Parts: sequence; C-alpha cells; structure tokens
Amino acid sequence: MTGSCSGVAGAQERARDARPTPDLQHVEVNGVHLAYDDFGEGPAILFIHGFMLDHTVWRSQVAGLEDWRRIAPDLRGHGLSEAPEHDYSMATYADDLAALLDALGVRRTVLCGLSMGGYIAFEFLRRHGQRVAGLAIMDARAEPDSAERQARRNVMIARALDSGTKALADELAPKFLAESAPDETRKQLREMMERTPINGVVGALEAMRDRPDSAPLLRTLASVPTLLIIGECDARTPRASMQAMADQIPGARFDIVPDAGHISPFENPVAVTFRLCEFLYELLPGRLLSGRRGLR
Ligand code: MLT
Repeated sequence: MTGSCSGVAGAQERARDARPTPDLQHVEVNGVHLAYDDFGEGPAILFIHGFMLDHTVWRSQVAGLEDWRRIAPDLRGHGLSEAPEHDYSMATYADDLAALLDALGVRRTVLCGLSMGGYIAFEFLRRHGQRVAGLAIMDARAEPDSAERQARRNVMIARALDSGTKALADELAPKFLAESAPDETRKQLREMMERTPINGVVGALEAMRDRPDSAPLLRTLASVPTLLIIGECDARTPRASMQAMADQIPGARFDIVPDAGHISPFENPVAVTFRLCEFLYELLPGRLLSGRRGLR
C-alpha cells in the first residue's frame, strides 16, 4: 500500500470510457443474477450506484483507488444485472449486496453510496451493520419521501410504463447534471440511463417511494467513520439535508464538490476520488483497519 493519493489525478484519463467493462463478472445471489466489477486487492470498498445508473458511474473511483479492492455491482434491475418483474425494496437491494459480499469472500467493507445508493447503504447498515467499516454517502438524504414526493414517484411510474425508459431519461438526465456539464458527460449519462430495464426503473421508484426514514440511524453511527459529499450544483438533494446529516453523525466529514450536480463522482471524478482516497487512508491506521487485509 503506497499511502498516497498522488495517482488519482490520472484516473479521469484512464476512465474516460463509460461503457460496461468488458470483463464484467456475473454471479447468482439472493435469487437474482448480478453483474459486477471486482478489481484489485486490499481492504474492500463496495460502490452502490443510484437510480437509472450502473457500475460505470464509478469508473474513475474504480480506476483511481488502486490500493483497494473495488467492488462495483449493477443493482438488480439496472445495467447488465437481471431485472425481475417484482421484488424491489431497499431491504432486497441491501440483501443482494450482502449476498454478493458473501460470494466474494468479503467480510467487512467500506460502503460508498450515491443517491439511491445512499438509501441502500442506510438499509445495509440497519441489516448488516457489523460488516460496515466506513461509510461514504454522496448526493443523498436520510429522510423518507414526503407525501408530495411519493405522489410524484407514482406519476413517474405511470409515465415510465406509458412512454418507456428513454422518455424518462430525456426528462431526468438534464436535471441530474450541473449546467456546466460538458456534452460528452451529458451523452454518457443519457446512454447509461437508457440502458436501465423498465422493470428496474419501476421497481426502484417503488422502493424509493416506500423507503424508511434513516434519520434515526444517524446518531448510532459514532463508530462508523463517515464522509459526506454533495455536488455544489446538486438540484435534487437539498444541501440542508446533507448538512443535517453531517451534524447528526458523530465525527462525520462533509465536503462540497465544485463543478458537479447530483452525480458528483461522475461529473467531477478527480475531486471526488481524491476526497475518497484521503478518507480511506485516514481509516487505515485506525482501529477498523489493521493493514492490507484488515477488512476481509
Ligand atoms: C437517484 O439519483 O438515485 C435519485 O434521484 C434519488 C431520488 O430520486 O430520491
């Protein structure tokens, strides 16, 4: 382990291509086929993508964090994983991930969740908390959907069923990104979102609509080193929600990343990977990690 984040700046260069990785692996766990990337050796970090995204949203973090075992699955109903018609909930996603870790022989991991991936990380903590050595949450909130937001989810479900994934991607992709996002980033995000099977879109909207309140969990996380990140231009996550999270999680660190909207690790990959890298190295000498294989 080098103990340095100096290689991160080259990550963007190495990770330009956002198509699914050719050597993506597959496994059946918890009754579903999941596709996943699994690179490197060392303490494990599990990347959990957001709604209508897939493992490629983490391409720069996977390329840049070379001293870690980087596990980046496509959630059920997303990317190249199986998309059953039913059985979507935060609990199911979290149990899929725990079963994936079992299949890979990983006992403990740092969780890194983006947006809906953050909601899943909270559920994973509730159900499998002893396996979590650290937590990074990006562009997500702890509180559940309000009645108004739940109603909007139902409208989106109807629209998705009527008009398909592409129509929803047309509508949502521009709202996910900072106004300054370059054309290439816009194009890659649209392609990623359009790859999402309709079953997965509907299932994820239902799962987000019905997710529990994670605010009561926050104060119990004193022993879980936590990093919170929000894109400076995130128009979908109220910054006050993340600030409240930072205030409630004992010892949490909170960073605002410039030149990024709701998909900060994709929009400003170098800044996010660098912050994550620093956070991970801070964990290493601590009680949770005891060297190269400390998280296994
Ligand atoms: C996501 O990016 O995962 C979603 O926008 C989260 C949400 O709609 O609450």
